[in-house]
Amino acid sequence: MKITAAKGTRDILPGEVEVWQRVEQTAHRLFSLYGVQEIRTPIFESTDLFAKSTGSDTDIVIKEMYTFPDRSNRSLTLRPEGTPGVVRAAIENSLLRRGEIDRFYYIGPMFRYERPQKGRYRQFSQIGVEVFGSSHPAIDAEVMEMANSLFTSLGIIGARLQLNSVGHPGCRPAYRQALKDALEPHRAELCSDCQRRLDVNPLRIFDCKVPGCGVIRANAPVILDYLCAECVTHFDGVKECLDTLGVSYDLNPRLVRGLDYYTRTTFEVVSDKLGAQNALCGGGRYDDLVASMGGPQTPGFGFAIGADRLVMIVAELHRHAAPADIYIVHLGAPALKEALVASRVLRELGLAVRLDPDAKEVGKQMARASAWGARYALIIGEREMEKGAYAVKNLAAGTQREVAARAWDEIRREVVNGG
Ligand code: HAM
Repeated sequence: MKITAAKGTRDILPGEVEVWQRVEQTAHRLFSLYGVQEIRTPIFESTDLFAKSTGSDTDIVIKEMYTFPDRSNRSLTLRPEGTPGVVRAAIENSLLRRGEIDRFYYIGPMFRYERPQKGRYRQFSQIGVEVFGSSHPAIDAEVMEMANSLFTSLGIIGARLQLNSVGHPGCRPAYRQALKDALEPHRAELCSDCQRRLDVNPLRIFDCKVPGCGVIRANAPVILDYLCAECVTHFDGVKECLDTLGVSYDLNPRLVRGLDYYTRTTFEVVSDKLGAQNALCGGGRYDDLVASMGGPQTPGFGFAIGADRLVMIVAELHRHAAPADIYIVHLGAPALKEALVASRVLRELGLAVRLDPDAKEVGKQMARASAWGARYALIIGEREMEKGAYAVKNLAAGTQREVAARAWDEIRREVVNGG
């Protein structure tokens, strides 16, 4: 019997791996600009961790966790999300400094037993950020802007930030009651899960994916109308800071998110390039989580980006883009030696260079250049060698000009800036 990859998992093969590396490197570089440090936590944790933090009546904990006893009968779970592990590690290793803001990020696999489809896997990867130690609305805005910056540095445009506030626990009882009152007359029309949610935690009804439940909750009251004065002020502050930073957003008063720890700001970034699983990123504020897990009272704010979905968009964006910056065309043995020098120096200057030593005719080498998707050709021929010059050809524009031989910086500038 042929053994295949387990359902909901997949191999990331050469070709796609390069896009992952590019995404991860962009994240490492960008996060360092914001003073965010990498943290690596275990892939499995004690099951209690997720029940206590993600929330015992969330879909993730009830239906989606990979939980198993180890050989000593401890209950362990493959992490379904990164936030609980980071909070545990921060408490356990005393990383949270009083009066300071501590910022961490992680990149790695998560596991949820969900129905696999395009962009939804049972093993998937998240790029997450958790910032501890400030409840200032500017932190909410700064961290959301950071997610936004990652998307724009990868060339993604058109991703939309959806914003809401779910208030703090004090705002909830009145809202929960209002929601219950509004939905109780429709109890029989709700799915069996939502009937249970109505009794246990009505807010979780917003997580339900059954279309009929969506129709019923469309007219339900929204939490924004039940926020206390401080939560309103905080939310106004977040919006003002986003405006100041030039980050646009849409208000989505039904965005409560499927995890229990959120207080005040919640957000998602959605992209119309993703199909049904359109959430590229989700996050929010969690001011009570650290204390509820035995740490000092420490506010927090974070997000996680679905890296598989991000890679999907980036790969599509760059499908037709040049894998090579410059292709070196050489004619004759002395020119090949010069071409070898050129390829080494231009690579040192950060350009992706291709050279085919076996190819002899110019026509064949030009065909190879376009097969590599090169944007430029550097032509080193006998005539050029005699003149002490190279020709640089812009392959898209079809224009060509002469540059002095070994004028590396000038060649690099031409390729990087188009002149
Ligand atoms: P989440 O919304 O559950 O939040 O997941 C964040 C992102 O992970 C989603 O927007 C999506 O892009 C991706 N994702 C989730 N499930 C899958 C899946 N089955 N397949 C592929 N991608 C998936 C969290 O996990 C929170 N820990 C975020 C956070 C951090 N909140 C505060 N700090």
